Amino acid sequence: MIYIKTDEEMELMRAACDLVSRTLGEVARWVKPGVTTLRLDTIAREFILDNGGKPACLGYGGFPGTLCIEVNETVVHGFPSNYALREGDIVGTDCVVELNGFHGDSCYTFPVGEIDPKVEALLRTTKESLYVGIDAARDGARIGNISNAIQSYCERRGYSVVREMCGHGIGRSMHEDPEVPNYGRKGIGPRLEEGMCIAIEPMINLGSKNIVIERNGWECHTRDRKPSAHYEHTIAITDAEPEILTTFRYIDEALAAGGEEEKAPASEGE
Ligand code: MF3
Ligand code: CO
Repeated sequence: MIYIKTDEEMELMRAACDLVSRTLGEVARWVKPGVTTLRLDTIAREFILDNGGKPACLGYGGFPGTLCIEVNETVVHGFPSNYALREGDIVGTDCVVELNGFHGDSCYTFPVGEIDPKVEALLRTTKESLYVGIDAARDGARIGNISNAIQSYCERRGYSVVREMCGHGIGRSMHEDPEVPNYGRKGIGPRLEEGMCIAIEPMINLGSKNIVIERNGWECHTRDRKPSAHYEHTIAITDAEPEILTTFRYIDEALAAGGEEEKAPASEGE
């Protein structure tokens, strides 16, 4: 069932999406070599609770975290753990917040310190493909237009698209219809309509598209153990351009400020 949101419901979606965006902005300040992913998870959980929200992943089908943690070859649904991030890692933090009965869903993959330029390019392309997909999300178009836009953008650049997981409708539930695959043909699938909210989330691999699901039933990694990237926004279909309900603005601000702090000691010595 696809739910078309009323104006009031759309306001609530905006609020939930703002909170999840600010949560990832908070997480961004702490992504550094030496920080455990459990620490990032605690920061996210406390921030959400302090702001009147609910960490929606925590306990969902038994999931043990507020954040899904995606280090290097982990594609999705990694558990927060005592693993301490290392220079050269990438870490995806996927978060869903419930606020006043509505859900906001967003994911960002961070570089930890200096990373391999090849992996940097994977991150850049995956993030760009998210916006390419969003741009195809127009009233009257089909889900397949989004899927096709993401797939062609990434495959043209030599990357591969994970098949097993996809984006989704979102609202009162974290996962609503329709499914939003990151691969497929233009013109197929459900028709997009003003008032729909969907989460678009390309999961893109440096190597082959194949993944393995761990015996715990959650954690997925690439079969070839090469890195995988993941970015996600929750958006609304309008009668014109799609409205991006989540934002990476808080993350960008946090990363820019972090860069300044690192430079500070050097300028002190001048
Ligand atoms: N962003 C993920 C998704 O869209 C979050 C779900 S993780 C879970 O499916 F733990 F809650 F399942
Ligand atoms: Co999602």
